[in-house]
Amino acid sequence: MEFRRINALPPYVFTIIDGLKMAARRAGDDVIDLGFGNPDIPSPEIAVEKLAEAARNPRNHRYSSSKGIPKLRLAAADLYQRRFDVDLDPDTEVLNVIGAKEGLTHLMWVLLGPGDTALVPTPSYPIHIYAPLFAGADVRRVPLGPGEDFFANLINAWENAWPRPKVIVLSFPHNPTTTCVDLEWLTRLVDFARQHDVILVHDFAYSDTAFDGYMPPSILQVPGAKDVAVELYTLTKSFSMAGWRVGFLVGNAEIVAALAKLKSYLDYGAFQPIQIAATVAMNEASDYPKEVNEIYWSRRDALCDGLNRIGWEVEKPKATMFVWAPIPEPYREMGSVEFASFLVNEAKVATSPGIGFGATGDGHVRFALIENEQRIGQAVRNLRRALTKL
Ligand SMILES: Cc1ncc(COP(=O)(O)O)c(C=O)c1O
Repeated sequence: MEFRRINALPPYVFTIIDGLKMAARRAGDDVIDLGFGNPDIPSPEIAVEKLAEAARNPRNHRYSSSKGIPKLRLAAADLYQRRFDVDLDPDTEVLNVIGAKEGLTHLMWVLLGPGDTALVPTPSYPIHIYAPLFAGADVRRVPLGPGEDFFANLINAWENAWPRPKVIVLSFPHNPTTTCVDLEWLTRLVDFARQHDVILVHDFAYSDTAFDGYMPPSILQVPGAKDVAVELYTLTKSFSMAGWRVGFLVGNAEIVAALAKLKSYLDYGAFQPIQIAATVAMNEASDYPKEVNEIYWSRRDALCDGLNRIGWEVEKPKATMFVWAPIPEPYREMGSVEFASFLVNEAKVATSPGIGFGATGDGHVRFALIENEQRIGQAVRNLRRALTKL
């Protein structure tokens, strides 16, 4: 059969490692899974209780609001006020999305079409590249990561693109490279976007996952950002609510209204008990992101200190739940798929091959901090035994 849109998708390289992991587990091996960024920390208890209670009320079994119920949007606006000192009108500047991934993908449908161009960092979280492609747009990949001046690269890509890009996709703290920016950097970009009439879409998935005192800035903290920018905020990592699929598009009211209109045709909103429980999480468990963050912080230290101790030099990331580790020199020629496969087979440790995030990621593997410190300690011991050339 011939299919539209999916035929051009390359095979998902992460499935190669996943297959090896499953095979090893079937053979009885204990594989420590630091591959897929799927949080293992429980969601806030208060949200779980509210979900169960709200699910028992038949009134909540009907179609809900595709924009998100008013109290949910208000809770998100209050969170932005508390956390980032950003004012949002819950009626016009906040829209509930079914996770940042869904929000971003459908947002590209309303912003882009055939003949349009988007600038997207590379390497990147795969949907950042594929969402504009699904919308029919042309994607120019802008190098980001260790040793790159991403701002200069962006300007260069802008100047070399015709037609001029309509959208720039951004995401800081960045998955997979863990690159972070400060408010001054975002201000320069907002100035550029205002001058050149380009829309900034900022995926802020790691808004609360940051260490050593670093506080990731929201793009909406830049004065005037709402003229050109929207941001995706999600409860996935901050509140460890990945499976619940609760996120928000916030910022420019015209763009928020455009996606709201599209979504009114596409869906009836998330299951209402989920919206109610997410409201309670934001209002009543507002310190939960800090608790979650402490756990990632200790895991980051356990992994990075451990790797450095065994001679695999890595830098400690300032944010995200990942470590973007350069493949050690004696193994570099293998490339990331062969190296990650070697790690599963010989060390029983699963990582994500960097090439899965784009060709320029091939010199790295990505560790996700989704196992506890004891397991991370075990992973380091396994790696020391397997990496005999270190
Ligand atoms: C950059 C980035 N955006 C979005 C997501 C997914 O967010 P959500 O669960 O809200 O769809 C992830 C998850 O790994 C991510 O790394």
